[in-house]
Amino acid sequence: MSNIQEIKKRRTFAIISHPDAGKTTLTEKLLLFGGAIQTAGAVKSNKIKKTATSDFMEIEKQRGISVATSVMTFEYHDLLINILDTPGHKDFAEDTYRTLTAVDSVILVIDCVKGVEEQTERLMEVCRMRNTPVIVFVNKLDREGRNPFELLDELETKLGIRVRPLTWPINMGAEFKGVYSLYEQMLYFFKINKTKIERDVAKVGLDDENLESLVGERDALQLIEDVELVEGVYDAFSEDAYQKGQLAPVFFGSAINNFGIKELLDTFCQISPIPQPRPTDVREVEPTEPKFTGFVFKIHANLDPRHRDRIAFLRICSGKFERGKFYKHVRLGKEVRFSSPFTFMASDKSVLDEGFPGDVVGLYDTGSFKIGDTLTEGENLQFSGIPSFSPEIFKELINMDPMKSKQLEKGIQQLTDEGVAQLFTLDLGNRKVVGTVGELQFDVIQYRLEHEYGAKCRWVPMNISRACWLTADDKAAMDQFVRLKGNQIAYDKDRNPVFLAESEWMIRMNRENNPAIHFHFTSEFKTEMAV
Ligand code: G4P
Repeated sequence: MSNIQEIKKRRTFAIISHPDAGKTTLTEKLLLFGGAIQTAGAVKSNKIKKTATSDFMEIEKQRGISVATSVMTFEYHDLLINILDTPGHKDFAEDTYRTLTAVDSVILVIDCVKGVEEQTERLMEVCRMRNTPVIVFVNKLDREGRNPFELLDELETKLGIRVRPLTWPINMGAEFKGVYSLYEQMLYFFKINKTKIERDVAKVGLDDENLESLVGERDALQLIEDVELVEGVYDAFSEDAYQKGQLAPVFFGSAINNFGIKELLDTFCQISPIPQPRPTDVREVEPTEPKFTGFVFKIHANLDPRHRDRIAFLRICSGKFERGKFYKHVRLGKEVRFSSPFTFMASDKSVLDEGFPGDVVGLYDTGSFKIGDTLTEGENLQFSGIPSFSPEIFKELINMDPMKSKQLEKGIQQLTDEGVAQLFTLDLGNRKVVGTVGELQFDVIQYRLEHEYGAKCRWVPMNISRACWLTADDKAAMDQFVRLKGNQIAYDKDRNPVFLAESEWMIRMNRENNPAIHFHFTSEFKTEMAV
């Protein structure tokens, strides 16, 4: 098969949701449809059990499972589908943001009872920045949920994206009868069905005389009314607008009951984008280019002291990746080769001999990778669009053993390269500020510094709520701002100046008073902060 055929065959996406909306269940059902697993319950949830939140070793143990389920590959209708798993736990949100840099589209799962929840909003912010195409799945229709029109309104207002329902629910909760496919004009009947993938389908139009006897008079009338309203209110579905990330088609169903999934999957196969071009610091890389390129978007460390290996996850962007071939590690400027790269079919790890754009390769790493690292066949380019986002919790790292400051320095560098947390340095006294999205990471870092690097530390909380990256066209203005702000300015790992703000108000005020300085909410400076 030619490279172009291989590319056209691939679809790489992530399922995102607020925890508990049904991401794991949906993933499993997609694998069931794809024939990658035979029975429900085969996919281990990488969801962190609520009872374990104070015990990070337990969490890491559970997270270990997520290596095996980090990428799930299956074939469906001649397509090779790669699902990239994202951690559900909020404290690992950065992991999810980075995974989103490696996909070409996402499926967003919403709980019909809860609607749009906090984490959904943040994840969608990241998708919007990158114009990632989104399909929405409204789940748990077997429960008494919110009015579907209300849910669609909420999706539009809270997520800032236009929506277009492609199926429509007939009642919900105990009275849930099924969904009507607006594009096939066909009814799908609901029945509780947790394991099988058979479905009852009725090919009836809304004007069919059997409609009432099939769903009951009240629901038939409601359906006709709803469909009229949908067709009147929402623009026709446009594949182009979807591909540009401007319009999200919406499906309704019940993941646990295998209901509404096939419509979702079939539509996904029809409309979702093939592996897309990706920006670098010098030019855009097309997947069809003959030479191999790829970047590391995730590093998974093994906390087991007997196996200190790490796994770097590499997204292939162009050309063909081959086992055992030398590639250029651009940041280090050296040649590297991998004798046992691996891939995942269902949840089995297997050695990968060759991979194509859209594929994710697992590489054993002994510490030479950091997030965003690029491999090429010799060209000097670095993939961009893998930004850091502002952490939410900031603490100063205090060395508890002056004899071990070298170890501490090395440890914190390596852990932040892995993406466990972000490191900012204050020039005055070389003080180190660590920023994370969750408290858990501080325990993880403290534990790992001690057990892997022999360095002891403690944390001092800081009154900072947000980090903004700074740029200015006028160097003198920047120098003056940095001088004036003293300890509110730190430097990230690449020596970019960062403003550590106590509050949103503080950012607003400083921005107003310093028009020559640009405040950015990611390390990639393309998007200015809206505060
Ligand atoms: P997550 O990965 O997004 O965190 O969600 P997950 O799939 O684990 O689902 C969260 C809970 O919602 C699970 O119940 C799951 O069984 C349930 N669920 C998923 N889809 C549906 C659905 O269509 N209808 C209903 N009623 N429930 C659904 P749990 O009790 O938390 O876990 P479990 O013991 O069932 O595994």
